[in-house]
Amino acid sequence: MTRAEHNTVTPADQSHHAPVPEVNPGAGHNYTSPVGAPDGVITLKDLQVFYGDFLAVTDVSMHIGSSEITALIGPSGCGKSTVLRCLNRMNDLVPGARVEGAVAYHGIDMYGPNVDVIEVRRRIGMVFQKPNPFPKSIFDNVAYGPKVTGMKVKNMAEVVEEALRAAALWDEVKDKLKQNAYGLSGGQQQRLCIARAIATKPEVILMDEPCSALDPIATAKIEDLMADLASTYTIIIVTHNMQQAARVSQRTAFFTAQADDMGHRTGRLIEFDTTEKIFSNPSDSRTEAYITGRFG
Ligand SMILES: Nc1ncnc2c1ncn2[C@@H]1O[C@H](COP(=O)(O)OP(=O)(O)OP(=O)(O)O)[C@@H](O)[C@H]1O
Ligand SMILES: [Mg+2]
Repeated sequence: MTRAEHNTVTPADQSHHAPVPEVNPGAGHNYTSPVGAPDGVITLKDLQVFYGDFLAVTDVSMHIGSSEITALIGPSGCGKSTVLRCLNRMNDLVPGARVEGAVAYHGIDMYGPNVDVIEVRRRIGMVFQKPNPFPKSIFDNVAYGPKVTGMKVKNMAEVVEEALRAAALWDEVKDKLKQNAYGLSGGQQQRLCIARAIATKPEVILMDEPCSALDPIATAKIEDLMADLASTYTIIIVTHNMQQAARVSQRTAFFTAQADDMGHRTGRLIEFDTTEKIFSNPSDSRTEAYITGRFG
């Protein structure tokens, strides 16, 4: 698939969709990248997410560039997973979750009425904190996405091999493709989940703490893999590991949650900038306190 084919979320006519507003990150957001740049992939404008009446996260405006790694960091409960799940409409599956503001994929409103959610999730894949292979063979785990999304595949074995190679797992599993995925180690299972995400030929891969259940060696493998994948895919990773954010990402978004008078803690995007800037010279004192370990 070429990049040009990614320009619409669905083949359906999108012309009635309201154009997605330009993003102006506003005061306090020191993101100076040219907003609406032609290589932009996902744009968030005044995003807020409720669970029932509870405003979980608000004031999120950011622009995610193509073929780079963006890290979302911040203390527990500040809304990182919530925001990540908005990027491929995974919050649709959470009872009571409501999304306001704009999420645009190549300028198309991802929450527009005609958007094909299956197609959104094919183009924007997800890898979770805990490796979650299906109770199927290694081969069938990788073949699953292309099958259920109705991709036209001439040779599934080739598709599976390509995805396993891209996920740096092929050499370890090529002789046992028919074995159950549960027989793999945790780190192998996580790379299998990455292979499963890659098999549908996405443009974007969302990763929610993909290494938190892994040992340092498996973590290093996933980090190396991410660096390789970043030349082909746009990656957005949530991590609690600040060294990891600093090592792997080009841009970092720092979120935090502050309690209001009623004691409700609502998450906010505090600062979004190059990873270098966030970790060497952040503009906001709250970012600095977090990255230096003084709070969170
Ligand atoms: N399904 C849900 N129903 C109700 N509230 C939720 C739900 N999921 C998250 N929340 C709330 O929304 C807020 C943000 O949660 P979220 O999981 O996005 O935080 P996070 O930054 O990913 O935290 P962590 O680092 O612990 O994973 C929290 O107050 C949380 O309790
Ligand atoms: Mg989370």
